[in-house]
Amino acid sequence: MSDDLDALKSRTEADLAAATDLRAWDAVRVAVLGKSGSLTALLKELGKVAPEERRERGAALNRLKDSLNAAIEARRTALETAALEARLAAERMDVTLPPRPHPAGLIHPISRTIEEMAAIFGAMGFEVAEGPDVESDWHNFGALNIPAHHPARADHDTFYLPPVAGQSMPPVLRTHTSPVQVRTMLERSLPFRVVVPGRTYRADHDATHSPMFHQIEGLALGRDITLGHLKGCLIDFLRTFFGISTLPVRFRSSYFPFTEPSMEVDIGWNRKTGELGGGGDWLEILGSGMVHPKVLANAGIDPREWQGFAFGMGVERVTMLKHGIPDLRPFYESDIRWLRHYGFNPLAPAMLHEGV
Ligand code: PHE
Repeated sequence: MSDDLDALKSRTEADLAAATDLRAWDAVRVAVLGKSGSLTALLKELGKVAPEERRERGAALNRLKDSLNAAIEARRTALETAALEARLAAERMDVTLPPRPHPAGLIHPISRTIEEMAAIFGAMGFEVAEGPDVESDWHNFGALNIPAHHPARADHDTFYLPPVAGQSMPPVLRTHTSPVQVRTMLERSLPFRVVVPGRTYRADHDATHSPMFHQIEGLALGRDITLGHLKGCLIDFLRTFFGISTLPVRFRSSYFPFTEPSMEVDIGWNRKTGELGGGGDWLEILGSGMVHPKVLANAGIDPREWQGFAFGMGVERVTMLKHGIPDLRPFYESDIRWLRHYGFNPLAPAMLHEGV
């Protein structure tokens, strides 16, 4: 091969080796084989070569062309392979790695207790009803047989709100969920059974009292609802909720203005260990009774035709007992560490025990 062809060959091979990406590679290819490429120019000039040399020169040019084509293709393949390998390395993914931890929300114990209570009472035919946190004096007290100056008002440490024009008594933050008894009696057609979970307020603040807390109210009204139904319903509820089928339950005569007779309900526990069940001690857990005829009449229901029972229970109290939560205050502090410890997985269904 003549010197100029040798030079072109080695120059092109050097240029190809120096081309480290497909762009640079393509520039080399065009510079050699393109319309005005160096090899293309030599091929064009073949006609000008003296006829006796033309054959040999032509064959040499063709060999050079084949060899350069092969070198160019080989370089392209090498560059493409390298690019693919670089990409594969960059996008490498280890599918055997465990998933990255991601923040998962948890259900607050109060919400979980309310869900469980609604599920248990729901299975007994109770629907969930709600009422407003800001109540009229009449719904919170008057209709429930607690007139102005009634001594029971003093127990409630009521938050009074600024008076409203045209109303003789200022509105209150409801001190219990019992006003929703009155609302459901006025709104629903009889017979019905409702439970009413919600926030309640009393101006009381210490280690075991919060000015805002939660109650769940129950009300079952019908023509033949008796004290036996009240007892059966609450015994079943308490044993199911606490998951102790032998939980001792005691009904103790008491007083509420809106029920007659009235009973407080105690469950058996061990005062020393805090363990529920046996142990010989009693712990008061809720208030209950047969709805007072005056309350029915106040809500426009004829007490000679209809009767029923009602109960009210503190949600925080039973939550603390069920889950061994020692202090009331962290319920409202939104401390994420506390919630991580006592919160519930939203995807796990509420644990229900025998009886439901
Ligand atoms: N409302 C009462 C309380 O807050 C509880 C209760 C409700 C008692 C219904 C009897 C019937 O203490």
